[in-house]
Amino acid sequence: MTRKRIMSGMRPTGSLHLGNYFGALDNWVKLQDEYECFFSIVDWHALTTGYEDTASLKDHIIDIAVDWISAGLDPERSTIFLQSNIKEIAELHLLLSMTVPLSWLERCPTYKDQLLQLREKNIATYGFLGYPNLQAADILVHKADVVPVGEDQLPHLELSREIARRFNYIYGETFPEPQARLNQIKLLPGLDGRKMSKSYENTIALSDSPDSIREKVRQMITDPEKIRKNDPGHPDICSVYAFHKVFSELQHDEISETCKAGGFGCVQCKKNLAENIVHFMAPMYERRQDLLKDTGRIYEILTHGTRHARKIAQDTLAQVRDRMNLLELE
Ligand code: TRP
Repeated sequence: MTRKRIMSGMRPTGSLHLGNYFGALDNWVKLQDEYECFFSIVDWHALTTGYEDTASLKDHIIDIAVDWISAGLDPERSTIFLQSNIKEIAELHLLLSMTVPLSWLERCPTYKDQLLQLREKNIATYGFLGYPNLQAADILVHKADVVPVGEDQLPHLELSREIARRFNYIYGETFPEPQARLNQIKLLPGLDGRKMSKSYENTIALSDSPDSIREKVRQMITDPEKIRKNDPGHPDICSVYAFHKVFSELQHDEISETCKAGGFGCVQCKKNLAENIVHFMAPMYERRQDLLKDTGRIYEILTHGTRHARKIAQDTLAQVRDRMNLLELE
């Protein structure tokens, strides 16, 4: 029996952190057992908001590939590829753009929000308006059945389905309508209790070494009312405890009770947490060290994945051109 196909992507905008891991990657890693998986580093999408500063783009592409593979995406089972090296995606984007009504793009909530939020970036561009159309091309070029995404992406998935339906209606059944599959997320705040985000500098990066994890955890601020080690604490307002819920799953009730009873101090509590995080991330750390010993291997994986993804894209485009009655010359 053929497995259903999954496709998803991330923009290469810098190294990933544990928030990204629990928000998406963790799901992708698990889906590899069940589905035929395509994971795209969507560098063209990164250009839609970052076209003015491309100096780090190449590094970011390699960084995200290393993050993915060390987090457990397995190039033996999943196709890991680079969007911009599949020109068929650009062609499909162009062809779909002929059919997509402007109003569908203009009323997309992410378009309106981002225009306001990123005012300093001059993204009132043709390319940015077409962001969801490019995403539809990503998904449809591989005829994906299922697209694992976060909730923020639901409007884009709705649009992808509408774009597929419209094409199918005009030119005949060609694309399956891709279904969104919401990532199961484990909520992990940032080190300071706010949302984990690079711009708040409150992250644990997937690339952090055990010692840098220990140092970051050591500096976390705990319940301000727990000053001495035997003072009773309030775990529910403590970010260290929020981390324990994720990384010390089996003992977190016990930790909460002991903290409330003043049974241990914050220093000890943070040491325990740091060791649990280091333990959790140890396999990622090892895979990363291995990969970095042989950076040529990273290029090989991307090249190999991109070739495989390109073959499928070529087949789809041959069919699309035919449906649209474009003339093919030798
Ligand atoms: N827009 C997605 C995001 O910001 C990234 C993306 C681009 C994507 N193409 C995709 C996700 C195709 C899923 C499928 O997260």
